[in-house]
Amino acid sequence: MYYPEDVIRDVRERTDIVNLVSGYVSLQKKGSNYFGCCPFHNEKTPSFSVNTKEQFFYCFGCHKGGNVITFLMEMENLTFPEAIKELADRAGVTLPEAELSPEEKRRIEARTRLYDMNREAARFFYYQLAKTEGGAHARAYLKERGVTDAYAKRFGLGYAPIGSASLYRYLSAKGYTTEEMEKARLVSVRGNRVYDYFFNRLMFPIFNTAGQTIAFGGRVMGQGEPKYLNSPETEVFNKRRNLYAMQLAKKSHRKEALMVEGYMDVLSLHQAGFDNAVASLGTALTQEQALLIKRYYNDVVLIYDSDRAGTQAARRGIPILEQAGLKVRVLRVPGAKDPDEFLKQNPPEAFQALIDQAMNPIDFEMRVLEEENDTQTADGRVLTVNGMAERLAEIESDLERQIHVQDTAEKLKVDPALLAKKVEEVRRTTGLLERRQNGRTRQEEQGLRTDARMQLLGVMIHRQDLIPLLERFISQEDLKGPEGAQDLYAAVAESLFHHQAEHTEVQKADLISLADRPEDQEKIAHLVQMQLPEERDDLEKLLTETVRAVKRRALEERLARLSAEENATAEDLRSMQDIIYERKSLETLRIQLPGSGGQQPEGGTVL
Ligand code: UTP
Ligand code: MN
Repeated sequence: MYYPEDVIRDVRERTDIVNLVSGYVSLQKKGSNYFGCCPFHNEKTPSFSVNTKEQFFYCFGCHKGGNVITFLMEMENLTFPEAIKELADRAGVTLPEAELSPEEKRRIEARTRLYDMNREAARFFYYQLAKTEGGAHARAYLKERGVTDAYAKRFGLGYAPIGSASLYRYLSAKGYTTEEMEKARLVSVRGNRVYDYFFNRLMFPIFNTAGQTIAFGGRVMGQGEPKYLNSPETEVFNKRRNLYAMQLAKKSHRKEALMVEGYMDVLSLHQAGFDNAVASLGTALTQEQALLIKRYYNDVVLIYDSDRAGTQAARRGIPILEQAGLKVRVLRVPGAKDPDEFLKQNPPEAFQALIDQAMNPIDFEMRVLEEENDTQTADGRVLTVNGMAERLAEIESDLERQIHVQDTAEKLKVDPALLAKKVEEVRRTTGLLERRQNGRTRQEEQGLRTDARMQLLGVMIHRQDLIPLLERFISQEDLKGPEGAQDLYAAVAESLFHHQAEHTEVQKADLISLADRPEDQEKIAHLVQMQLPEERDDLEKLLTETVRAVKRRALEERLARLSAEENATAEDLRSMQDIIYERKSLETLRIQLPGSGGQQPEGGTVL
C-alpha cells in the first residue's frame, strides 16, 4: 500500500459500497444486506451479498469477497493504486502523490505505452486509408458499402497496407521496441524477421469505454480467410470485458442499447441514427459485457442474424443479459441477413418500427420452438410445450412466471393448470441440479473446515472480546504458519493482537487491506464472512477443538526444531520436556466462555 493508510481509509469510508456495486450488479435488499447475481462467476440464483454495515461484499458461491477497493480492482482489472485513484476521484478526495512501488510504476508505465502505441497504430492506418495511393481500393470498398467519410472518421476506420512491415517501421521510428509491438500483438516475429499482424485489410479500431485504443479488427476486402482478423488478447485488450462502439453508445440518449453481431452492423446503425448500437468482439456475449451495458442502460434489444447460428446466439445471450438485470427484447431482422443489409434496403424509420415491435424473450422462445418443431403434428406440439415449460421454469419471479404460463397456455391451446404443473416439475429438478453445481466438492469443503487456524482466526475476528481469554492458551506465535511461508494468517493474527493491546477493535474491511493479491484478499474475506455457531455450547466446543489443534501443531513444530538442533543444550532439553508436558495437557484442555454456569476460576476457564 503506497498511499498512507488513513488516506485509503478515507477513500473507503466515503465510498458507499451499495452504490458502487450497483453500477455492475443489480442488487436487491434483504434485511440489512443486499443480494444479487455474482459478477465473478456465472450463476442464476443470487449468492452475491453486500454487507452495508461492514461495507463488504462476499459471494457464497465462488467465495470472492472484499471491500470497495478490491471490488473495483477485480471488476475493472486495476492495480491497487489505480483503484484508489478512481474511487478518490468519484468521492472527491484529493490524493497525495502516491508512492508507487517500482513494480507498480513499471506496470503502469508499460500499460500507458501500450495504449499510446495502439493509438499511433490507429493513426497510421487512418492516414493510409484517407491519404495514400495504396488506400484507394479501401476507400472504394467503403464507398461501395455506403460508409460516409464522416462515419469512417468517427469510427477511426483505417487501412493496413500491403507491405509486410509498414506499421513496424512506422512504430519503430516513433521509438517503440519490437518487444512492445509484439506484446500489443501488432507485429509477429518469425526467426529474425518481423511481420505486421494486419496487412491489406480494412481496419476497425476497438476502443474501451474511456476511449483508449485497445485492439483492432481487420476485414479482408474481397476473398480471403478469415473475413475478420481480430487482435488477440493483450494486457489492455480483454475481449470479454469490452464491446465494440461502447465508447460512443454510452453517450447515446436512446432508451435501450442495441446489441448486434457485427462491426459493419454497428457502423450502419450509427450512420442511420442509432447511436446506441454495440457488438461483441467476435466471441459469444459474456456476462462482463452484459454488465457493461447495464452500467449505461436498463433495456437492451438483442438483434441477431436470421440464420440458425444467429438464433442460437440469441438464445444463449438472453439469460446472460437478464442476469445482469437488463430488460431484454429480441429482434430478428426480416428479409435481410443482418441490420446492415436491412438498412441498405429500408429507411431508418423501418428499423425503428422493428425495435418498437421487438419480442419479449418468452415469445421469442415460442417462435423458435414452433419453427423447430412441426406444430401441425401432435408430437411437434408436445415438444413445443415441453420446451416452453423448460423456458418458463427459468423465470424467477413467481408473479411473472404465472402470467407467462397463463399467456403461453392460451397461445399453445393447452390447459394452464397442466402447464403450470409441468413448469413446477422442471423447477424442482433443475433447482437441485444447480445447487449441486454450485456446491463445492466435499474435499474442498473439508479443506476449508479442517484448517483450525483459520477457524480460530474467524472466531477472533467476530468475537474480539474473547481475545483476552484465548490469549491464555494461544499466542501470536502459535498462529504463525510454517516457517518461510508467505503468511497471510499471521498478519491477520498480528493485527488482532495489536488492536487488542491497544484496546481497539479491528475493522473487518481493514483486514482485507492487509493483503495485496486478490487471492489473498479472498482468503481474508472468507474469514470475515465465517458464520459462528449460535449456541454457546457449540462455540465452546469449536474453540476448544481449534485451540487444541492449533496449539498442538505449534508445539510439534517447536519440538521438531529443537530435536533437529545438533548441539542441544541442557536448556533445550528442558524446553523439550516442557513442550511434551504441555502437549499432554492439551488433552484435557476445555475452554468455557465467561458466564457459563458452574464454578470456574476467574476468567471462566479451566485447564
Ligand atoms: P459476419 O460474418 O456476420 O460479418 O460476422 P458482418 O459484420 O456482417 O460483416 P460484413 O457485413 O460481411 O462485412 C459477424 C461478426 O463476427 C465476427 C466479427 O466481429 C463480425 O463483425 N467475425 C466474423 C470474426 O471475428 N471473424 C470472422 O472471420 C467473421
Ligand atoms: Mn454483414
